[in-house]
Amino acid sequence: MKNIMDAPFLTEMRRTTANMYRLGWDERNGGNISCLLQSEEVGRYIDIDSAVREIPIGFEAKELAGRIFIVTGTGRYFKNVQDDPENNLGIIRIAPDGRTARLLWGYKDGGKFTSELPAHLMSHMARLKVDPENRIIMHCHPTHTLAMNYVHELDERKFTHTLWEMCTECIVVFPDGVGVLPWMLCGTNSIGEATAEKMKEFRLVIWGMHGIYGAGKTMDETFGLIETVEKAAQIYMLTAHLPRINTIKDSELRELAEFFGVKYREDFLN
Ligand code: 13P
Ligand code: ZN
Repeated sequence: MKNIMDAPFLTEMRRTTANMYRLGWDERNGGNISCLLQSEEVGRYIDIDSAVREIPIGFEAKELAGRIFIVTGTGRYFKNVQDDPENNLGIIRIAPDGRTARLLWGYKDGGKFTSELPAHLMSHMARLKVDPENRIIMHCHPTHTLAMNYVHELDERKFTHTLWEMCTECIVVFPDGVGVLPWMLCGTNSIGEATAEKMKEFRLVIWGMHGIYGAGKTMDETFGLIETVEKAAQIYMLTAHLPRINTIKDSELRELAEFFGVKYREDFLN
């Protein structure tokens, strides 16, 4: 067996959590990431058939039986993942009944996966149906996106339209727009179900006055989606209180989407 500390998927989780922390998106234990792994790849580092312990997941994820994920731990600080991955991360395999997670590695001091596991696994199930290559679900609390939640209507058409207007490349990066959920109690199956429902049509979902969820094939793609929303929200927050003299017009947004050949939410334009 190879040393798991050299596994590219572990390095990627360490680097990404550190980067997100540095950007201020993940204060204290805020945020969580889950990444779907290939069993052959994990099998080079650890025995994927032997569980350290079993942890109930609180709902049924039968469609994901046998699937392996690396997931951030609940209550764990993103700032600490880089130096101490074995306590702050875990590799879990969904048991055949879909109700239990077998811990293969990590959460060494007795911890467990994020309290948002329902939203993660339910979102994986939803996104895998749209894109079988989807691997990442990422949640965080980006400052300007969150600030915008307090001063902008929480309507997904209007919210997406405003973001698209803030940076020329937004409509190219997330032509499918941003889904928006109202404030809901986090850490529950209900918010998980609502998020997964939105994930059927969006790769980005705002949790009203809480944060954002992103989904993608790779860590870079998912991170880049959230990063682009956050940049647009920052421009909005820097300008919303000032008289608007210029804007990107809907005809220009259409021109951009057509030039870059992206399938965009035409119904989100005026
Ligand atoms: P966890 O520490 O359980 O991952 O929760 C953090 C969070 O952001 C809740 O939404
Ligand atoms: Zn959160």
